[in-house]
Amino acid sequence: MTTQTVPKGRAAAQAKEAAAPVAATGSEVAVKPINRREFLYYIWGASIAVFLAQTTGAIIWFALPRFREGEFGGIFVVDPATVPAVGASPVPNPTGKYWLVNTQNGLLALNMVCTHLGCLFKWVDANGRFECPCHGSKFEEDGRYIEGPAPRGLDRFAVRVITPTGVIESDAKGSPVKIDGAQRIEINTGKKIKGPSASQA
Ligand code: FES
Repeated sequence: MTTQTVPKGRAAAQAKEAAAPVAATGSEVAVKPINRREFLYYIWGASIAVFLAQTTGAIIWFALPRFREGEFGGIFVVDPATVPAVGASPVPNPTGKYWLVNTQNGLLALNMVCTHLGCLFKWVDANGRFECPCHGSKFEEDGRYIEGPAPRGLDRFAVRVITPTGVIESDAKGSPVKIDGAQRIEINTGKKIKGPSASQA
């Protein structure tokens, strides 16, 4: 049996060749592994993409109306012909949870919920005022506080009146809105305005 001796220089070259990455040959494709820095770049890019997608979704969600017309939380359209006359009894809208009141100063949409502990108050024709059956709070026709444990007058919803000459909207206090010549009246039950304080009665 004979032993073949490999020259020292050639052995070193063979070892180097074995350690080198495999190059593409024929149908083989060399795959270059990603390093730590590239990996972190990919993670960062993916995080930015997710963040942008979430932000875009949130913007679209808030831009779209969440309540349909005629649904509590949305807009209720009132035909001007159906508004009670000035001095007539307020008209309830149970779906919209408001009382429509036409006062000398204009139209109001008063929230049906008492400002004390949330009972549903009633209009009492004989006394010409709203009265809460739970603890006896009383309110004027326009929602101003009269007496009882309620901390303030009745809350109201924003009113928008479209006329041939322009649009009139509730102010920050929810004051009555004039409806002369109204073509369309909208009650926004998504926009509640706090009633006047008891001291303003
Ligand atoms: S809930 Fe109306 S007076 Fe208390």
